[in-house]
Amino acid sequence: MHLLIPAAGSGKRMGATVNKLLLPLLGRPILAWTLRAADRARSIEWIGILAQPSDWPAIEAMLAADPLATPVEMVQGGVTRQESVFNGIQHLWQRGNVERVLIHDGARCLATPELFDRCSAALQQVDGLIAAIPVKDTIKVTETGPNGIQVQSTPERSRLWAAQTPQGFRLPLLWQAHQEAQTQGWQVTDDAALFEKLGWPVYIVEGEESNLKLTTPLDLLLATQILEQR
Ligand code: CTP
Ligand code: MG
Repeated sequence: MHLLIPAAGSGKRMGATVNKLLLPLLGRPILAWTLRAADRARSIEWIGILAQPSDWPAIEAMLAADPLATPVEMVQGGVTRQESVFNGIQHLWQRGNVERVLIHDGARCLATPELFDRCSAALQQVDGLIAAIPVKDTIKVTETGPNGIQVQSTPERSRLWAAQTPQGFRLPLLWQAHQEAQTQGWQVTDDAALFEKLGWPVYIVEGEESNLKLTTPLDLLLATQILEQR
């Protein structure tokens, strides 16, 4: 399975001055943990890192310090996550002979090799899937008016799942979906949303509660604890 890792963000919500994926977590950069887990997944045969060229030297140094057994390539990231993934898919499409792809956020550095393998296996049967976990909180739908934020409704919790990555797709369909998004000006925060817009099925693979997306300083603290426990 080919794997794309979006890593071209800046990490504004983490509040650091560098891309958050370069911040240290128990002795190695956050991104190095993500790459290590992907490298240990038996099903992953190639890794493409989507990154800003200004971060390439730091990432290359990281790979030199912590070499991977899996072939890895750097691909230029974009201004948005969607654009970064677009570049990655275009790269794979131009290579030819790639039928399926997994996409996994560099910021989800606690995903286990087993999760990658579970997603790879499931993707042999379907055209689109996401890792996700049941929502624990009660979620409110709101509308903002002159008197504040007003609750409109409460979706039935048993039907709500929190989306994670890996997300996996048949490459020709994902490429078509991303091109359509570009033509139509659709802006989405994950790739499955493009499939949904087109009415194409997306299935759920059981994710992991510990598969956090490191977004704020609190997440970094939690990730440190979780890794120390492993
Ligand atoms: N990402 C990317 N290209 C971008 C923006 C984000 O590849 N132009 C990647 C990030 O590096 C991250 C993943 O998409 O691995 C999920 O994004 P997020 O957690 O939002 O990271 P950032 O965009 O870096 O953080 P923030 O939104 O707080 O600035
Ligand atoms: Mg972001």
